[in-house]
Amino acid sequence: MRRVGMLATVATVLTLAAGLALAAGSDSKGKFYFKKSCKTCHTKGAEGGEVTPLTKTQEQWKRYFTKGLHKKGSQKLTDVVPAEQLPEVQLFLVNHAADSPQPETCG
Ligand code: HEC
Repeated sequence: MRRVGMLATVATVLTLAAGLALAAGSDSKGKFYFKKSCKTCHTKGAEGGEVTPLTKTQEQWKRYFTKGLHKKGSQKLTDVVPAEQLPEVQLFLVNHAADSPQPETCG
């Protein structure tokens, strides 16, 4: 009986872990935020010029978000989008960067 309980606990923990991994690996939310918060200024002809995941490599996007500066360093990224959306936007851009396994132009 105790053994069964233990197995059930292990199974629950594994299911939770898998769920978390999936959530962390999902960038659809980031795509949504990117479209909503960045694309307003970043389409062709708009104020900021066109920006897509392909604009940078994975390494460059990581560095860009680590620095957290926007508009040639004149402001913080958090001045243009809510801070809590940034990790997801970063995930989307990195996962679909120019040198990523799934490059994406859209956004
Ligand atoms: C209110 C308008 C606006 C919003 C919103 C905005 N940007 Fe920008 N962005 C600009 C402008 C203006 C520039 C400067 C363009 C230039 O001088 O060539 C810029 C420049 C950039 C650049 C070029 C490098 C740099 O920093 O100068 C990147 C990359 C960039 N933005 C990414 C983003 C991302 C990612 C988001 C959303 C998290 C975002 N931007 C949201 C207006 C905006």
